Order: sequence, then structure tokens, then C-alpha cells
Amino acid sequence: MTDPAPARLVVLLSGSGSNLQALLDATADPGYGARVVAVGADRDGIAGLDRAAAAGVPTFVDRVKAYPTRADWDAALTAHVAEHKPDLVISAGFLKLVGDTFLTAFGDRYVNTHNALLPSFPGIHGPRDALAYGVKVAGATLFFVDAGVDTGPIIAQVTVPVLDDDTEESLTERIKVAERAQLVEYVGRLVREGWTIQDRKVRIP
Ligand code: GRF
Repeated sequence: MTDPAPARLVVLLSGSGSNLQALLDATADPGYGARVVAVGADRDGIAGLDRAAAAGVPTFVDRVKAYPTRADWDAALTAHVAEHKPDLVISAGFLKLVGDTFLTAFGDRYVNTHNALLPSFPGIHGPRDALAYGVKVAGATLFFVDAGVDTGPIIAQVTVPVLDDDTEESLTERIKVAERAQLVEYVGRLVREGWTIQDRKVRIP
């Protein structure tokens, strides 16, 4: 029996793309069960787009300001992602909230990795907010995106210690190491094994 075709991943990002790189590295193994078929961004000139190009992965950029309204941007982003027929769409440091059109198309298979232990510290300053609060453990959360800000059903979480001499930078980096490993592990499991969601509980058989 031949192996099934690898699942199609579209990755959205806004920055350095180290999570993308981890996925690109993992998908080099045919046994992983997925490949990155496109990378989209909300801005030009970021390292994440260079990483995609270096791997020969097609890219697209949809800047919010290039469209008359936010809804037009959302529709364009949805169309560009749809062109690549994704089985899973991954927000990996994508600093934009998508809208209704996108969620209608991909809300059942759009995952985001966030650098805090949700529901604590949503938003774009997770490590800074965790440090300011004085928590002793921090970490990352992988979840299915819903219409809220970092509120969707949780797929997986990983913790790292907060050290007394941590800075925002040192904590951010420690989280990112654990976050990348979690992303690779769970994206692979999702595409290979499938999942169910009931009453917010995500289960991978
Ligand atoms: C990740 O830590 C993510 O949680 C946060 O931005 C970071 C993206 O890093 N929202 P990279 O671009 O994948 O290196």
C-alpha cells in the first residue's frame, strides 16, 4: 500500500520564521506526513519569507493597508490561502487577527502558537506580561483559532521555568525553543492522526 499524500500546510507569519523553519526541517522527513505548500505574510522584508524562498516554497504577502477595508484584506487573505488547498493553516507569529471570511473558510483547521500559557497573558506581549506578573512558570500554547483573541480550544501546552534573572529576551527565547518542538510534534500528530473537539476539549486519537 502506498503512503497517503502528505498533508498540505499553509503557514502565516510576520517575523523571523523560526517556527516555520522548524516545520520545514521536520517535513523533510517523508514520515512526518505533511509539507509546507505556501507561506503567507502581512508584510514584506521579513526573514520568514526568506526562509520560505530558500526552501523553494511559494510565498504571498497581503498587507492590510493595500486594501480599502479590513474585510477586503480578510477576503484576499482567504483567497490566497485557499489557492493552496490547505489541510491545516498555521499561524506562526502572524500578528493579525483574521476576520469572519477567513474563519468561515478555515476555522475548523486554523491553528495558532502563542508564547504564553493561555488563558493567561493573551495578546502580543506574552513573555513580557508573564515576567511583569511574577509567574514562576511560563510556556507556549497551541490552539485552534476562534473569533476571540487567543481564546480557542487548546491542543497542547508546554511549560518552561521563569528564572530570577530573566529578561524579556531570555524568557522569550527559552519559550521559543519549547514552542517550536511542541509545534512540530503536534502538527505532525494532527495531520497523521486527526482530531476531535467536544466542549472545547481537543482530542487526538
Ligand atoms: C512565537 O514565539 C509566537 O508565539 C509569537 O511570535 C513568535 C514567532 O517567532 N507570537 P518566529 O517568527 O516563528 O521566530
